[in-house]
Amino acid sequence: GAPVEADISALEPGQKMTVEWRGKPVWILKRTPEMIASLKHTDGEVADPNSKRTAYPIPEYAKNETRSIKPEVLVVVGICTHLGCSPGDKFTPGPQPSLPDDWQGGFLCPCHGSTFDLAGRVFKNKPAPDNLEVPPHMYLSDTRLLIG
Ligand code: FES
Repeated sequence: GAPVEADISALEPGQKMTVEWRGKPVWILKRTPEMIASLKHTDGEVADPNSKRTAYPIPEYAKNETRSIKPEVLVVVGICTHLGCSPGDKFTPGPQPSLPDDWQGGFLCPCHGSTFDLAGRVFKNKPAPDNLEVPPHMYLSDTRLLIG
């Protein structure tokens, strides 16, 4: 599949947009400072905080706490690593006491309840075995991304 360009100039902090790449949804989330800070909170609760697992290739620039090139911009494939559902509609930008895992915001898979933090990192003891995939991508400018 061909690489896909995404214009993120209109994306406000706290908002997420979706582009299609190779038939898959790719989410681009612009994180607020609070969202970035929440990752410190979830570090100890996620299964693979620095994406060391090797089930699929993870770009070097995503092997960190924010899983991103720039801390404020998350780019992940929006497909659950368990059995392929999309947790897209179940995105919560901030804390929600009714949700599990001392919820700071993130993604909840509707199929079997896997939860992912605001870096797409899977919480421990969930059916999903891995963090959400980070597709290869680069910045063409501050507001233009090339995915693929
Ligand atoms: Fe997401 Fe099973 S497909 S938890």
